[in-house]
Amino acid sequence: MKLYITFGTRPEIIKLSKIIKLSKKKFETTIVHIGQHYSKNMSDIFIEELNLPKPDINLGVGSGTHAEQTAKAMLKLEKLFIEDKPDVVMAQGDTNSVLATAIVCAKLHIPFAHVEAGIRSFDRKMPEEINRVLADQVSEYCFAPTEIAVKNLKREGISDNKIYLTGNPIVEVTRENLKIAESKSKILEELNLNEEEYIVLTMHRAENADNKERILNLLKAIKHIKETIVYPIHPRTKKRLKEFGLLKEFEKLNNIMLIEPLGYLDFLKLCSKSKLIISDSGGIQEEVTIYKKPILVIRDSTERPEILGKFGFLVGYDVNKIIGKYKYFTENHADIKNLETPFGDGKASERIVKILEGCL
Ligand code: UD1
Ligand code: UDP
Repeated sequence: MKLYITFGTRPEIIKLSKIIKLSKKKFETTIVHIGQHYSKNMSDIFIEELNLPKPDINLGVGSGTHAEQTAKAMLKLEKLFIEDKPDVVMAQGDTNSVLATAIVCAKLHIPFAHVEAGIRSFDRKMPEEINRVLADQVSEYCFAPTEIAVKNLKREGISDNKIYLTGNPIVEVTRENLKIAESKSKILEELNLNEEEYIVLTMHRAENADNKERILNLLKAIKHIKETIVYPIHPRTKKRLKEFGLLKEFEKLNNIMLIEPLGYLDFLKLCSKSKLIISDSGGIQEEVTIYKKPILVIRDSTERPEILGKFGFLVGYDVNKIIGKYKYFTENHADIKNLETPFGDGKASERIVKILEGCL
C-alpha cells in the first residue's frame, strides 16, 4: 500500500510525528512537505527534534494570499499524485496545505484521510474553519478526535461509515516529548526563569495578528499582569507588529521577554513549568490538558469546546475578561491537576494506522 502523508506547517509536523513513524513500519510511506512553513524555526527544527525522516519531497510552496498558496500547492500536488498514484493520502488539521491536499485527492479519486476531522468553531470568518469543513466533505476517512467532533460530522451529512472516533494524536505526542523535554531542555536556565513564576503568551491567528485594535487591547490587559511574560513571536505576528508600529510598545513593557519561536522541546518545557498560558493557538489548547496548566484563549470562539470552564476560558480581546480570568486562575488556585484530558487515551496514532491497515 502506497501511503502519502502531507504536511505544511509547524503544528502538522508535530501532530503527525507519531503516525509517520508507525506508518513507515507498516506501509510504503512517502512524506511530502508542502513548504507552507519554511523558516528553520517553523519547520526543520521540528523534523530534527522529533527524529522524523527527512521529507521525501518538498514542494516549496511558501507564503502568499490564500488563493496563491492553495493554488500553488494544488498544482504541485496534482502533478505529483498523477505521476506517483498513491493508494491513500493523509493530512492533519485545517491549514491551506490540508485543503489543497484534500481537493486534489477528491478530484483524482484518491481516498483522503483527515486527521482531526470534525472540529468546528462555527465561525466561517476563520480561514481554518472553511478549510476544515471543505476537507471533511471530501474525506474518505474522517478521524475525529472527540465525540463532539463526531456529532459535528454527522450533522454535516457525512456518512457513519467514514467516521472514526480515534482521539487526538497530540495526547501521545505531548506525553512522549514532555519526558524528553524534561531532561533535554535547558530553557528555564537560558531565560533565567523560575518554575511557576512566569506566563507564556502566543498569538498568531489572522483574526488577531492582523487586527490593530485587538493587539492594543491585549497590550492594555498585559500591563495588569505582574509576572514575567515570555512571548515567542510567530513570524506573521512580528511582521504585523512592525507594520502597526506596535513592536516597540511590547518592547517597552518591562515584564515581557520577546523571543523567537522555540523548538518543540523548549516550548513544551517552558509551558509545562509556567503559571498560566495566554494563547490563540489550537494545538496549545490541547497540550495544556496534558501538562495541566490553565489557558486564557484570546479568541471569541473555539473548535476545542471540550476545555472550556475546566482548563480554560474564552476571553476574546476584552481587557476585563482577560484580567478577571487571570485572577481566577492565579488567585483562586483553581485545581486542574486532576482533570483528565478530553482529547483521548494516547492511542490515536496507533488506532489511525490500524484503521488504514484494516481498510486497504
Ligand atoms: C498557518 C495556518 C494556521 C496555523 C498556523 C500555524 C492557514 C490559513 N493558516 O498560519 O491555521 O494555525 O499556520 O502556525 O493555513 N512566515 C515566515 N516563515 C515561515 C512561515 C511564514 O516568515 O516559515 C511568515 C510570512 O511572512 C507569511 C506569514 O508568516 O506571510 C503567514 O504565514 P502563513 O503560512 O500564510 O500563515 P500562518 O499565519 O503561519
Ligand atoms: N509551538 C512550538 N514553539 C513555539 C510555539 C508553539 O513548538 O514557539 C508548538 C506548540 O507546542 C504546538 C504547536 O506549535 O504543538 C502549535 O502551533 P501554532 O500555535 O502555530 O498553530 P495552531 O495549533 O494554532 O494551528
